[in-house]
Amino acid sequence: MAILAQTPPMGFNTWNTFGENISEQMLMEITDVIVEQGYRDAGYKYVVIDDCWLLRERDEDGNLVPDPAKFPHGMKYVADYIHSKGLKFGMYSCAGVRTCAGYPSSFDHEFQDARLFASWGVDFLKYDFCNFPKYANCKHRYLTMAQALRASGRDILFSACNWGVEEPWNWMRSIGAHMYRSTWDIFDNFPSTVGIMNNQFNNFNANAAGCFNDMDMLTVGMNGQGNVANSENCNTYTEYELQFAYWCFCGAPLMMGADLRKVGDEYRTLMQNKELIRLNQDAECRPPYRVREDNGYHVFIRHLADGEFALGIFNLCDNTRTAECIFAEMGIPVGSGVKVALTDVMTGEEIAPKRDDHYPQVPAHSFKIYRAKCVMA
Ligand code: GLA
Repeated sequence: MAILAQTPPMGFNTWNTFGENISEQMLMEITDVIVEQGYRDAGYKYVVIDDCWLLRERDEDGNLVPDPAKFPHGMKYVADYIHSKGLKFGMYSCAGVRTCAGYPSSFDHEFQDARLFASWGVDFLKYDFCNFPKYANCKHRYLTMAQALRASGRDILFSACNWGVEEPWNWMRSIGAHMYRSTWDIFDNFPSTVGIMNNQFNNFNANAAGCFNDMDMLTVGMNGQGNVANSENCNTYTEYELQFAYWCFCGAPLMMGADLRKVGDEYRTLMQNKELIRLNQDAECRPPYRVREDNGYHVFIRHLADGEFALGIFNLCDNTRTAECIFAEMGIPVGSGVKVALTDVMTGEEIAPKRDDHYPQVPAHSFKIYRAKCVMA
């Protein structure tokens, strides 16, 4: 078996934009865009179908059946196409008796469904938590699907999605998941993004190669269009930039949710930002560490594989803040005489080595991220 998810998984998922309006044709077009517009080369590799891909009942052998109106050539055809483009194919099921949208799901069918997915060439399974029987045990059922996937004969990344129930950061890694949703669903507006950011600060401590805390699919570039969006209150460009930067900084999986056929150049450039993705994919996979919170702005550091560290300031307030970044709070005491050299990852601006502190202005709903290194005096 291959070792999966050595760094946070990256890809695309249909739910945020398409909801139940999914089809073979749309998925193949998105696949083409991922290749032709540089997303694959930037690191995105999983093309994932979410809920609503199947018929309302299993067949006489108890197998799940793709909806022929949406997927006229079946799932293997889609998988083959995605594979032919050098990408990986993701599917969706649920630990309960029905998916969230009411379709059949994998409770008590785990091994049968995993074998079927493997026979289609599936590389990734998002596994939801709706309609879960009261008498059943959540941890045990995710464990059962992990075993089923491992026994399926294919390398299938297990993307668990139980929304944080029973503190998944304490057990999803050990039951065999490669990533786990620990939040409710994201919506394409700033309060939703901030709600997730605010309840996730402490949930990254179990992040390490092999299994990652998932803050849900990105809404970057949706611009109020699609299943989880509303054109009246969608994010601004600055807010999308903050979302992408924060997901990258934390080492969260990067699953794009916008209609990639339609996103503007500025969003494509943002989601392919090399420095932010480099941070996200850092080989040491260390979680961020918060050193300061001051009425809505947050200062984090994150140690990186090359011995540098990232300094991230995220301003969730509605006004510009002067962010106090005090090196002593980051473990670099004044008395050490050590200076810190900073490079702004968005602009490339280099700030000559400084002692003691750095006080950048951070506009409302925006951020600063620096690569930082200690310079011996
Ligand atoms: C849940 C999940 C979402 C999506 C829908 C599909 O709400 O959290 O991400 O998969 O179900 O019905």
